[in-house]
Amino acid sequence: MTFSPELEERFKRFWPSIRAAKRSAVIPMLMYAQDEVGAITPELIDEVAKRCGVQSLQVDEVVGYYSMLHRKPLGKYHVQVCTNISCMLVGGTSCTSMPRRSWDRTQRSDGRRAFSLEEVECMGACSWAPAVEINYDFHHHITPEKLDALIDGLKSAKKAN
Ligand code: FES
Repeated sequence: MTFSPELEERFKRFWPSIRAAKRSAVIPMLMYAQDEVGAITPELIDEVAKRCGVQSLQVDEVVGYYSMLHRKPLGKYHVQVCTNISCMLVGGTSCTSMPRRSWDRTQRSDGRRAFSLEEVECMGACSWAPAVEINYDFHHHITPEKLDALIDGLKSAKKAN
């Protein structure tokens, strides 16, 4: 399996710090590769296992355990809306309706969705509920209108296309 030169460079940067325990690279490699590939595929699992010197089954178990690793394809921008109790009580669930927010189906020219939407459990931002994470960026005190504005901002930045 081949990755982009940018992703290979990223792997190279953290590799020296984990050389003694290559298996500790499994999660960051999976996350960075997921960003590029859009999903954790069987080929990706085999590749990470080979590079980290572990069995594919061990990598597969990691994928099954961590909710931030997805076997289903994600959009370029993966929108995670917390609907756990604190966020639910102040309107978090309304951020996922309309229904399943229309931008969720926006398609890119490469066939990958521009956005994907996922309801998630508490992300540790209860004091600023409702909380949303888009890729690695957190957004607090979100309303449906604020969320749509964030999406519009990403669309108009041409990053989603
Ligand atoms: S319940 Fe939503 S961040 Fe904690």
